[in-house]
Amino acid sequence: MKTILQTVDLKMIYQIGKVAVNALRGVNLTVNQAEFVAIMGPSGCGKSTMLHILGGMLKPSSGSVLIDGQDLSKMSDGSRTELRRQKIGFVFQKFNLFPTLTAEGNIRLAERIRLNGNHKNDSERRREILRLLNLEGRLNHKPLELSGGEQQRVAIARALVGSPAIVLADEPTGNLDSENSQIVLKMLQELNGKFGQTIVMITHSPEAASIAQRVVHMRDGQIVNK
Ligand SMILES: Nc1ncnc2c1ncn2[C@@H]1O[C@H](COP(=O)(O)OP(=O)(O)OP(=O)(O)O)[C@@H](O)[C@H]1O
Ligand SMILES: [Mg+2]
Repeated sequence: MKTILQTVDLKMIYQIGKVAVNALRGVNLTVNQAEFVAIMGPSGCGKSTMLHILGGMLKPSSGSVLIDGQDLSKMSDGSRTELRRQKIGFVFQKFNLFPTLTAEGNIRLAERIRLNGNHKNDSERRREILRLLNLEGRLNHKPLELSGGEQQRVAIARALVGSPAIVLADEPTGNLDSENSQIVLKMLQELNGKFGQTIVMITHSPEAASIAQRVVHMRDGQIVNK
């Protein structure tokens, strides 16, 4: 089985004035290609910090992250940004769509950025994703004209187009009611099954975690056996 993501002794210390917060205290995590992993743990244990580091959005204090064999810590800021654009899809708790673009505009922009002139024709995959996420009838709506569940489905489509190696999701159902949570989770599960999409998802909900193939528990900046 191919390893798509690996962290080696990842540490993160946030320094605020004289106060140091040890957010990560040596995290070793390996994720295989096509795996769906859920991350659980109490508030403040370092889950979002870890996900942001995995996505190359935050630099760790020490340790390394390998994405598809490439070591983020050995890359320049520019090439790390490039790798993030091409290989990482991010889904946030608060959707983060561009308000002035339609659903389709949001999705196409993400696809253009990810493919970056690589004219791999992904329109078949895009259509499939839109079908699976049941968004075909909402493509001309702007975010404010969509329900929360629909906005999150657009955000998921945006994270998936252009075939990223990994989708990282930080509490993707945190702002949804239970019905929309169910829908979004079921779709993530189908996308993982159908496209073999690797997904790492933070969640507080045991129900959400139960759709993953593996649950990783964190506490005080470390991975623990439950
Ligand atoms: N930008 C920052 N500057 C300083 N400290 C931070 C920063 N971001 C997070 N922290 C601290 O680092 C620790 C881990 O935060 P993090 O956001 O990773 O937790 P979390 O597990 O995602 O929590 P939650 O479940 O509430 O989202 C916390 O103690 C938090 O206060
Ligand atoms: Mg968090």
